[in-house]
Amino acid sequence: MTDLAPVITIDGPSASGKGTVAERVAVVLGFHFLDSGALYRLTALSAMKSGVALDDEVRVAGLAAALPASFHDGAVWLADENVSDAIRAEAVGEGASKVAALPAVRAALLDRQRAYRQAPGLVADGRDMGTVIFPDAVAKIFLTASAEARAERRYKQLIDKGNSASLPALVADMQARDARDTARLVAPLKPAPDALFLDTTRMDVESAVQAVLAHYALCHARNKM
Ligand code: DC
Repeated sequence: MTDLAPVITIDGPSASGKGTVAERVAVVLGFHFLDSGALYRLTALSAMKSGVALDDEVRVAGLAAALPASFHDGAVWLADENVSDAIRAEAVGEGASKVAALPAVRAALLDRQRAYRQAPGLVADGRDMGTVIFPDAVAKIFLTASAEARAERRYKQLIDKGNSASLPALVADMQARDARDTARLVAPLKPAPDALFLDTTRMDVESAVQAVLAHYALCHARNKM
């Protein structure tokens, strides 16, 4: 495994800020970045567009295996369509959480995720990056925040974009999604035993980025000993 590019995994619940933190860490280190949640969102969007029921495991897995997804020019693409905004819709997030509970869908996306591991390194953001996809990652982080803090962050994002939103509804939605992601049988959301637990309820993005970088430096040095 020593000739493989180093991986930093950042797992955690939705709206914990891990995507922003992971992307910033990748930029600082000059590493590649994998937003694995986007692959589940693209799978859900693809099923919704083609009229495939989100619980039709065989057909959804077929879509996941052949997903014409790419990330370039600062956007997310499904074939030649820019779906950067479409995959962030609440309905698609809901759908992603449903298709992510299907074992055949997770299996269909496994190799695609591992293929992102390329020199000089990778920062992988998701739910099972440290537990299933990259169990040999050099540094693992479990990044979380209280459901109320995460709902408040999502609320601000929605209001800033000119949407209407209800904070109590968002808290309830956050708790329901956490429950589904944590309770599912395959690759449930849980910290890897060797992950650093980072609670960002009272932490800004920059402090979280610094904490991840410090942990990586420590693990990297330990690995060399
Ligand atoms: O991180 P996100 O909100 O974009 O993820 C969307 C959904 O995909 C979320 O409900 C959980 C699921 N997911 C997963 O099961 N495993 C991953 N590695 C990433 C996301």
